[in-house]
Parts: sequence; structure tokens; C-alpha cells
Amino acid sequence: MRTRMGGRIPRPSPVPGRRGSRKRCTSRSVPVLDRPARTSAAGRTRARTRPATAELTRVRRRSVAERAVDRPPPPAEAVRIGQGIDHRGDHRGPRMRAGNASGKVLITGGAGFIGSTIASAFAERGIVPVVLDSLVTGRTEFTQGKIFYQGDISDGDLLDEIFAAHPDIGIAVHCAALIVVPDSVSDPQRYYDVNLTGTLNLAGHLIRNGCERMVFASTAGMYRPGPDLSVSEGSSLDPQNPYTRSKMMAELLLEDLCSAYGLRVVSLRYLNPIGADPRMRTGLQSSRPTHALGKMIESYGLGVPFRITGTDWDTRDGTAVRDYIHVWDIARAFCAAAARFDSIVAPAGPDGRGSGYQVINLGTGGGTTVRELVEAFRGVVGDGFQVEEAPARPGDVVGAYVNPAKALELLGWKPEYSIEDAIRHSLEWAARRSRMDAA
Ligand SMILES: NC(=O)c1ccc[n+]([C@@H]2O[C@H](COP(=O)([O-])OP(=O)(O)OC[C@H]3O[C@@H](n4cnc5c(N)ncnc54)[C@H](O)[C@@H]3O)[C@@H](O)[C@H]2O)c1
Repeated sequence: MRTRMGGRIPRPSPVPGRRGSRKRCTSRSVPVLDRPARTSAAGRTRARTRPATAELTRVRRRSVAERAVDRPPPPAEAVRIGQGIDHRGDHRGPRMRAGNASGKVLITGGAGFIGSTIASAFAERGIVPVVLDSLVTGRTEFTQGKIFYQGDISDGDLLDEIFAAHPDIGIAVHCAALIVVPDSVSDPQRYYDVNLTGTLNLAGHLIRNGCERMVFASTAGMYRPGPDLSVSEGSSLDPQNPYTRSKMMAELLLEDLCSAYGLRVVSLRYLNPIGADPRMRTGLQSSRPTHALGKMIESYGLGVPFRITGTDWDTRDGTAVRDYIHVWDIARAFCAAAARFDSIVAPAGPDGRGSGYQVINLGTGGGTTVRELVEAFRGVVGDGFQVEEAPARPGDVVGAYVNPAKALELLGWKPEYSIEDAIRHSLEWAARRSRMDAA
């Protein structure tokens, strides 16, 4: 299914300043949250983002009564989660009924770029998303029409409440994370607190509430690319910064929990999501994405040349490679992983046949160089788009691309949207977001 939308793409208005233009996320029942101060004191950060216990209890009560919008959209393409539900053990709290046909999916980080898109994709398939997000970077608008709980993935009481209210949650999609690499270098404690400790706490509460399936949003940035810049599931792991290390460590701990407690996890690793929901419900929150496409859109909006930094890399045209992938294609892969869950990840057992853990890479199998991206961009906006060339900047890397053979084999998945589709959707979303920010 390819989308080819005719007509000219509106030129987005010049990108306003990040902080000045960002709408504060508000809610009736939860104190207004700022993006947490960049402090190394994890405790202080938590204190700013969580109300006191009494207030929290009040917030939770109201969260069910006032914020739940429990109206599933008509199923476009109904799927089952896994192949029937068979919870075992003496878990605390409510459990799903065996053989549940569709049910609900808990999506942590479901107010963010990728999580919100995944939520829409599940909803279109008749699986009701239940979103848990602290809104530290997510947007409340992205949760409209969905069941939404504002809170932290480490908040076990809140998770218990969610499972009590929605005993038909059959699987969790774990997208909540902090993801900005430079920030992870300057404040690694905060990154490990959310991405590692948060994942540990979340997984523990999933297990005790009888939810033993998780699809984990991970990164293919943890691989060391081969000489041809490709990475596959067998490539060596060589994470280069605290963000990527925190994701790798989270995977390691999840694998251990799978061995010991009957949890099962599919980790989907990918690199450079771009584009937006093709129906323009959601997209990137940031008005200044730092990737090359974001810079192109910014240059196009300002009417200034886009600068290609680095033209003598050892690649097919001398410019760096990235594995851009349309965010809706990523969302489709998460839905496929949920639908095929039981057939692609067997529980860890004494016979040693299953490990309860499965890694699958998502990518295009070739990547896109910066020059190729420029040509695709011109194909969408016209030949007048100007570029200039400059040397590589300190810290620039040649990049990598993902071999998606295993995703095709296990999920029946391959990307469907072209790079031009992704550019078109990114431009449409940038124009829409400018209007949202200005409103
Ligand atoms: N964007 C990328 O380039 C990329 C690439 C590979 C993998 N990933 C992974 O995909 C996932 C989603 O990334 P994204 O681009 O949508 O990021 P995002 O920042 O848009 O979304 C993350 C969401 O998690 C929420 N969140 C953060 N900490 C939380 C906490 N403690 N409790 C509850 N919610 C919390 C944020 O508010 C936000 O809505 C992440 O796990 C990331 O590691 C992203």
C-alpha cells in the first residue's frame, strides 16, 4: 500500500524557537509538567514530575473516571494478539481470559512520536490502545480519543490500577524512553534511570499483573556495522553512547527476566524513523529535528541552501548513509509482532528450546545517502531546492543500514512506504505542527 498524494507540498513556516514555541502540556487533573530540568539528581527530577502521594491517589481515581475514552474505533483489519491467552502462575491482580480474541494493548510512551503512531495502527486493527506516558516529551494531543494514563513507567501502583481497569490487556508495547544522544552523554544517570531502571520496574509489574508479552522498542544503533555498513541480528554489539548502552542493557535485563519468570519479549531494533502518520494524526513533536531530513525541511522553510556535511566518506556517492524508515512502517511491524507473537517467541522452558526472547531488526536493506535524500526531496518539492557542500563535522559518522531479512521471514514485514512518501508526510506534518504550535 503506497500513498501517492498529489498536489504541492506547503512550505512550512520558518521553524520557531524550540522552547519559546513549545506548548506546555496541561491536563485538568495533573499538575502542569515542564520538560524536566537537565539535572543529574534523578530524585529531584522525579519530585518535579510526580505529585505527592495523596495527590497522586486523587489523580489516579480521576484518571479512570474522567480520562478514559473507552470507545474502540471500528476494526479496519482485526488481528488477534498472539494465538490465545494462557496466563500461568499465581500473579497478583486480574488476569486475561483465555482465548481473548483481540483485547487491548498497553503502550508506554504512547504520546511520543513512534508510540502514538503505533497506537493508531493498533486501533485501526481493532486492538484498543491503553496509553501510559509521563508527557516528559510526549504531547497530550497525541492521546486524544485514546485511553490515557499520565504517569511514570516505574509507578507500580499506577500499573496495578491500569491492569485492574483493563484486565483484557494482552500485550505491552514499551516505547517510553529518553532518546537524545547528547543529553545522555551530559546526564547519563537520568537516562539509565528511565531506560534501564524504568524498564526493570515496568517488566516486574507486567509480570505480577499477568501480562507476559512485551514488544520492546529498541535501537539498531547498538551494532557495529560491517565493512559494507550493513547490520544484522548477528552483528557485534558496540554501543557508542549512554543512550544506546541503556537500550542494550535494558535488552539484557529483559532477556534475563524472560529466562526466569515466564515473560516473553520481542525486541524490534531500528535506526532512523521519519515521516508521520499518513492520516496526519501524529508526527514528530520536535520543531527542530536534528537528522538530515529535519535540516532539509528547516532549510526549505527558511529558503536557504541545505548544507551537505561530509562528501568523501567511503560510500556509493561519498555522503553518509542512514536507514530512514517511515514511522507507519515501524508501527506496522509492531502490530505484526503482536499478531504473530506466540509463533515467533516460545517461552523459556527446561528443554532449552525456547528462550522467551527474540530480536528482530527493521530496516530498508540499503539505506539512503545524503545525496539520495536530497534528490528525493527535490522530487517532492521541486528542483529549485539548493544545496551546498562542506567538510564533515567533528563527531559525524558514516552510518549504517539494517538487513531486514529476519523481519520478512518472521513477521512477513518489509517497508511499504518510499522515501518520497516519508518526505511528503514529514513536510505535511511540519506545516501542521507549525499551525498547532502557533494556535
Ligand atoms: N526516534 C528514533 O530515532 C529511534 C530510533 C530507534 C529506536 N527508538 C526507540 O523508539 C522508542 C520511541 O522513541 P520516540 O522517537 O517515539 O521518542 P519520543 O521521545 O517521541 O517518545 C518517548 C515517549 O516516552 C515518554 N516517556 C519518557 N520517559 C517516560 C517515563 N519514565 N514514563 C512514562 N513515559 C515516559 C515521553 O513522554 C514520550 O512520549 C524509544 O524507546 C526509542 O529508544 C527511537
